Amino acid sequence: MGEDGEFARQMLAGVNPVNIELLRELPISSKLDPDVYGPPESALTKEVIERDLLEMSLEEAFEEKRLFILDHHDQILPFVNKMNSLPGIKTYASRTVFYLSNAGVLRPLAIELSLPPTSSSSAGSKRVFTHGQDATTQWMWKLAKAHVWPNDASIHQIVNHLLRTHVCTEPYIIAMHRQLSVMHPIYKLLYPHMRYTLAVNAFARKNLISGGGIIEASYSPGKYAMGLSSAAYKTMWRFDMDALPADLLQRGMAVQDPCMPSGVKLVIEDYPYASDGLLIWQAIKELAEAYVEHFYCEPNSVKSDLELQAWWDEILNIGHADKRNEPWWPKLHTNEDLSSILTTMIWTTSGQHAAINFGQYPFGGCPLNRPTFMRRLIPQEGEPDYEKFKLNPEEFFLSSLPTRYQASKVMATQESVSSHSPDEEYLGKPNSSGNHWTNDEDIQNLYSKFADQLEAIEKMINLRNKDIQLQNRCGAGVPPYELLHPTSGPGVTGRGIPKSVSA
Ligand SMILES: [Fe+2]
Repeated sequence: MGEDGEFARQMLAGVNPVNIELLRELPISSKLDPDVYGPPESALTKEVIERDLLEMSLEEAFEEKRLFILDHHDQILPFVNKMNSLPGIKTYASRTVFYLSNAGVLRPLAIELSLPPTSSSSAGSKRVFTHGQDATTQWMWKLAKAHVWPNDASIHQIVNHLLRTHVCTEPYIIAMHRQLSVMHPIYKLLYPHMRYTLAVNAFARKNLISGGGIIEASYSPGKYAMGLSSAAYKTMWRFDMDALPADLLQRGMAVQDPCMPSGVKLVIEDYPYASDGLLIWQAIKELAEAYVEHFYCEPNSVKSDLELQAWWDEILNIGHADKRNEPWWPKLHTNEDLSSILTTMIWTTSGQHAAINFGQYPFGGCPLNRPTFMRRLIPQEGEPDYEKFKLNPEEFFLSSLPTRYQASKVMATQESVSSHSPDEEYLGKPNSSGNHWTNDEDIQNLYSKFADQLEAIEKMINLRNKDIQLQNRCGAGVPPYELLHPTSGPGVTGRGIPKSVSA
């Protein structure tokens, strides 16, 4: 697949497949305050993008939805000067534009690496890198790609993993224990999806995301990691966008299609995370809908369920108090409202967390594939480092990566968080705890049907991984996409969907 192909493939089938989006228009513009962060226009202009588009015109590429972008600029740039003042950290804010070729393969076209204004440079800098034409520019391209990863690794770990799956779900769990009786049907439905999460989060607060802890030591935001997480919560987190179809639509990676079971059609058909994810999403949705219909058969029964209303009220007004006035919170009035809220919660704690969590060691264990930070900026002509780079680019490249000790620390952490415990409970399998036990035959049948669906999905995923047409998950040297394969054995397997955020 080649180095560029593998770089792009991981946007669709790697450990962070949730940030790539359709490039809708040019010029690309920042939403940050220009008085603080300089001119909003990106240096990835029409001319830059057009230059390497060999198969079609720019207009055709837009019309056929062939251009995509990984845009970490606005989330990272406000932290870049702080990060670059930390010892041993050198970073940029990145944007990467991709092109989906006629052969159906995604390729990086151009990378923009930006530095914000400083006291010595009032405009900041925006450098553009494209495929190299000679030895020097090819090495520059390699360095530019390496600098995209720390942005992506930080957003993955601190925003998509920690914030959106571990932390934002805590209020659902606390409110469930406070407001719902253990005999309440929604308690029984949710309980297996909330297992171990509070304990895992407490452990993380003490040992991983604590001041001076492993996350600060291993990712480029360093001691600003929690600041980055808080900023993301403030500016981008929305409960309704944690629903997989809504997230795909928002990123332009899918379009509305009432003929599809999930209501959406993927723009890139071979998008392993999304195509497997929609199967899991749909199975959860059908279970939640049937479950809700069974228990809420009277008109207004959702609205008049005082425990349930108190649970939702606490999530909005206490757990997520900072967001309590946001207009996007779903109402909890109807059966449809309830099943939709439950589907999003169960998907987030099971499939979404699995897709984001258990590939950490397979993809991030090797710093050459996905460094979590870099130690040197890319030198420019005239700078002392430029001569060192030209003399021995390989040595320069390696000395930009984390040291062996730093890399080993990251590797050990990734290994431990990617591991399934021997008592893991997988989606579609029986629960070991008796708390949600029921002798209601209709409900037992619903769970049996759900288990059958998950088994069928597992078979479908195995078939997809053998389909040579699906180049992002099958082919020489291409790893199968198994992060949404429902079952797994214990240990680091790169597969398996636990019911809850338990690692
Ligand atoms: Fe996790």
